[in-house]
Amino acid sequence: MKYFIVTYGCQMNVHESEKIAGILENLGYSLAQNREEADIIVFNTCAIREGAEDRVFGNVGNLKKLKKKNKNLIIALCGCMTQKEETAQKMLRTFPFVDIIIGTFNLSKLGDYIESVKKGRQFEIWQEGEIDEVLPYKRSSGDNAWVNIMQGCNNFCTYCIVPYVRGREKSRKEENILNEIKNIVSEKKYKKITLLGQNVNSYGKDLNPQVSFAQLLKDICSIEGDFKLSFMTSHPKDLTNEVIDVIASEDKIEKYIHLPAQSGNNRILHLMNRKYTREKYLSIIQKIREKIPSCRITSDFIVGFPSETEEEFEDTYSLIKEVQFDSIFAFMYSPREGTVASKMENQVPENVKNERVNKLLKLEKKIQKETGKR
Ligand code: 5AD
Ligand code: SF4
Repeated sequence: MKYFIVTYGCQMNVHESEKIAGILENLGYSLAQNREEADIIVFNTCAIREGAEDRVFGNVGNLKKLKKKNKNLIIALCGCMTQKEETAQKMLRTFPFVDIIIGTFNLSKLGDYIESVKKGRQFEIWQEGEIDEVLPYKRSSGDNAWVNIMQGCNNFCTYCIVPYVRGREKSRKEENILNEIKNIVSEKKYKKITLLGQNVNSYGKDLNPQVSFAQLLKDICSIEGDFKLSFMTSHPKDLTNEVIDVIASEDKIEKYIHLPAQSGNNRILHLMNRKYTREKYLSIIQKIREKIPSCRITSDFIVGFPSETEEEFEDTYSLIKEVQFDSIFAFMYSPREGTVASKMENQVPENVKNERVNKLLKLEKKIQKETGKR
C-alpha cells in the first residue's frame, strides 16, 4: 500500500505533512513515487490567499480521473482550507469522489478515518483541539528538522485567516520540545533545527509556569551536540530585547530573523491591527543590527490592503529601501471571508495591487544587486 501527499502553503504545513506521512507509515503504507501508483492521496491545503485555494480546487478536480481508474483509491483533504466549514461543505459537494475531509484540529486521527472509510465518506471538522505533543514524524526535509513549538494565533491581524483556522495560541510543554530535540540531535542526521509557530515570540505565555521564548532558546542551546537553531515566525510587537540578546550570544543560533513588517505606513498598520508603528519597527531593526551586525533580516509585505493609497504604498517602498532586507516576500492583499479587512470599503483593484507588488520585487532585486545580498 502506497501514499502520496500534496502539500500547499507554509513550513507549518510542510511539517504537518511529515506528521501525516508518519501516521500513514504506522498504518503500513510506504511512499509512492507519483499519484498514479498511490493507494491513498492526501491534500494538505492552505487558505492564506485565494490563489492557494483556487489551486487546490483545480488539482483536486483532476483526481477524478485517477479515481475512475482505481476505485479503491482513497482521497483525503485536510489543512487550513478544510477547517473553514463553508469551504469544506463546498468541497464535499463539488468532489463526490473525495473520501475523507477533516480539519486542522483532528488531523492526528487521520488513521481512524482511513479505517472507517469502508463504511462511507468521512467528514469531520472540530472547532478546537489539544496540541499534539508526541507523534510519529517521517522527517523528509533533508538535513533540517522542523520542530513545532506552538500552534494558533491570538493576534487577529485584520487580513489574516490563521486565527480562524488554527485557533488560539497553544504552546507545547517545554519538556516535550527539549526531548524531541534531544532525540533529533542523537540521530546525527540533521544539521539544522527550525522551530515553528505562527507567533514564536509569545511561546510559553499560556503554560503554567510560564516559560519565555528566550528561555526556551537558551535551554535548547544547552543541549549538547552539533546543530544550528533557527525559528519562524516572529511578530515585531513581541520580539523582546531578551530574545535579541540570546540570538547574539548563543553560537548555536543562526544569525537570521524573519520579521514580517506587512506595511511601512502607520495608518495601514493600524488598520491591519499590527500593534506597532513604522518607527517602532525601525527601532527594532536598529537594535538587531547593533547587537548582531551580521544578522540576515527578511520580511513579508502585503500591498493593496483596503484603502491603501499610492502615498501609503510609497511608505512601504521607502521602508524596504531604508532597511535593505536580505530578501522579502511581497503579496497582493487577498480578501479572506470572515476577516475584518474583507468587509472594509475601498478595496484596491487587482491591477493596482499587481503594479505595486512588481515595484517591490524590482526594488528587492535592486537592493540585492547593490549590496551583494542574496
Ligand atoms: N492576503 C495577502 N497576504 C496575506 N498574508 C497573510 N494573509 C494574507 C492575505 N489575506 C501574508 C502575510 C503573512 C504571510 C505568511 O502571508 O504577509 O506574513
Ligand atoms: Fe496571521 Fe497576524 Fe497571526 Fe501572523 S500574526 S498568523 S499574520 S493573525
